Amino acid sequence: MTKAISKKSAHLNGNTKVPGDKSISHRSLMFGALTKGETIISGLLEGEDVLHTADAMRAMGAKIEKGSDGLWRTFGVGIGNLHAPKDNIEMGNSGTSTRLLMGLVGGHDITATFTGDASLSKRPMKRVITPISEMGAKFEATDGDKLPLTITGAPSAKGITYRLPVASAQVKSAILLAGLNANDKTTVIEEKPTRDHTENMLRHFGIDITIETLEDGASAISVIGKGTMQPCAIDVPADPSSAAFPVVAAILKEGSDIRIDHVCINPTRIGIYTALKQMGADIEFLNQRIEGGEPVADIRVRGTGPLKGINVDPALVPSMIDEFPVFAMAASYANGTTTMTDLAELRVKESDRLLMVAEGLKSSGVSLEMGEDSLTIHGNGKAPKGGSLIKTALDHRIAMAFLVLGTITDEPITIDDAAPIKTSFPNFMELMNDLGCNIGEIHD
Ligand code: S3P
Repeated sequence: MTKAISKKSAHLNGNTKVPGDKSISHRSLMFGALTKGETIISGLLEGEDVLHTADAMRAMGAKIEKGSDGLWRTFGVGIGNLHAPKDNIEMGNSGTSTRLLMGLVGGHDITATFTGDASLSKRPMKRVITPISEMGAKFEATDGDKLPLTITGAPSAKGITYRLPVASAQVKSAILLAGLNANDKTTVIEEKPTRDHTENMLRHFGIDITIETLEDGASAISVIGKGTMQPCAIDVPADPSSAAFPVVAAILKEGSDIRIDHVCINPTRIGIYTALKQMGADIEFLNQRIEGGEPVADIRVRGTGPLKGINVDPALVPSMIDEFPVFAMAASYANGTTTMTDLAELRVKESDRLLMVAEGLKSSGVSLEMGEDSLTIHGNGKAPKGGSLIKTALDHRIAMAFLVLGTITDEPITIDDAAPIKTSFPNFMELMNDLGCNIGEIHD
């Protein structure tokens, strides 16, 4: 394992661009593979998770290549025509690839076996197995719902109506993707809005998606199976989840002034920016525009001194679900107490993020309480002591969040393993250092 260390640095300055959005990148490759023709993708995130999706789609018959012009091109096989992969499909650390592809395979008359790293192999898959089984697929999973997992898709998938028991875009997407090749209509009902890239992008690829608001306020999202997807062009905007790391680093330092260009500001993704603004952060969305069907802006952030603690509105949770690790770093430097509730999903991410954040912050000198699904952080407007060695448990966002904290702590913060950062933000250290941070790998 390669450790990395983050030392106190001066304020951050400059313009930058973070890599492409991970959710949109996965879907670009999957959906391109479901057309019969050429889809051209610019701005694709070349992180390990997305490269696993590319390999999986190749194993199921698509041709996917990166040109010398930097563009990615997919040549698809069409809905209903995915090939059975010859070997196991290795998904690495990527829960999104795995869960979405379980849906896609589940709607096709093929068998595939998914394997993953130690983190992914601990993550629950029952949430996908249950609805996709109802559609006719068969599963053999380790310990009932873990990887390695073999799925035999339905020979003739039937559409279902399914109310999501957890707010999860991955589960919603898996069902809609299985529904693409079902014989009739598939409807997913979600009570709390989760990221809607699957719906937006399926429409962009020519699929008729309908969304209805039910009497109880839930959304019913429907797709009719056996449609045709049209090849198209996709411009992947920068990832708001990745942008959150330099944003928080800038906020934590008075005098910082940075701009991050062309960031996706889809309302289902920007809860952290809303919460940080409520704490007093100076964040502006400049040049707001729609590009490739997604709202996009250049984000300007200025560091104006410590934030104030807030109670995070539970309604914001799904729209900042991936951002709690770095948000907790901001809360630990705020004046006053910040409470976060409804966090049960954090326990089943790439790591038990609630635990990893709480343990890491405690060992860095932060006062906090962790509950079953809550976290309360007591800030005093001063930088935490630091001097800690953080366990990252194969979790990229834990690794990056604590490296951000190390830019303000009295003593440097070390993380035990920098490798997972490559899953979503391969140039993280270089980009942060260009803005003024002092982060580096330790080769001993
Ligand atoms: C994702 C959905 C989220 C998120 C993950 C990406 C997606 O998971 O945590 O990083 O691309 O659909 P859940 O929908 O399970 O919360």
